[in-house]
Amino acid sequence: MTGIGTGSIHSHNPFMRSEFQFPSGFLLLPEYFSRQAQENLLHLVRKAVQSAPLYRPVMPRTGKPLSVRMSNFGPLGWITSKEGYRYGLHHPVTNKPWPPLPACLAALWQDVTNWPDLPEACLINYYDEKARLGLHVDADENAAKAPIVSVSLGDQALFRLGGPRRNDPTRSLRLSSGDVVVLGGAARHCYHGVDRIYPNTSTLLPKGGRINLTMRVVGRNT
Ligand code: SIN
Ligand code: FE2
Repeated sequence: MTGIGTGSIHSHNPFMRSEFQFPSGFLLLPEYFSRQAQENLLHLVRKAVQSAPLYRPVMPRTGKPLSVRMSNFGPLGWITSKEGYRYGLHHPVTNKPWPPLPACLAALWQDVTNWPDLPEACLINYYDEKARLGLHVDADENAAKAPIVSVSLGDQALFRLGGPRRNDPTRSLRLSSGDVVVLGGAARHCYHGVDRIYPNTSTLLPKGGRINLTMRVVGRNT
């Protein structure tokens, strides 16, 4: 009679179990970047965070800090405040413009997408060994059809991909340094998150942890 009973019958009934299917437009390119290319990218990230330091964003409403620290390349950066999420032209702490998108990331975008415009935002996420990122859909961009391209550097992460609804089945994948993930097509609107970091699984970052670079078209005028 109630929803509780129905839900538990479904989840224990093998005939009702829905299997995970990779959404179309999801692409994992293992070790797209060689070790040398990863070191070059790391150098560019280090230079960027000298002028645009990593900061700890807060969740809207609660003001609770995220465990991931962030910065950004490109004209627009994704920022949070108590009022909500948005894209902004300036670093929220220094108030300076973000450092430009490096040419090698623009080249990656052109290599793995057919999207005509370059991304305006490339989020720099830093995960220490305890950081994680809850399941979410990236939905603050006007250009909702443009793919998202991400690069992993440093320690491995357990990345979880689901479907368009929060309680759709999910699949966990380990992402390693140099891997590229594309969320295009249907995958662009799928839940995803990072459940954990595996310490000491890469020698790229001398102090450990993981960097993820996430390129997005914001589409200011769309
Ligand atoms: C994100 O969803 O913004 C980042 C995903 C990742 O760190 O791999
Ligand atoms: Fe995301």
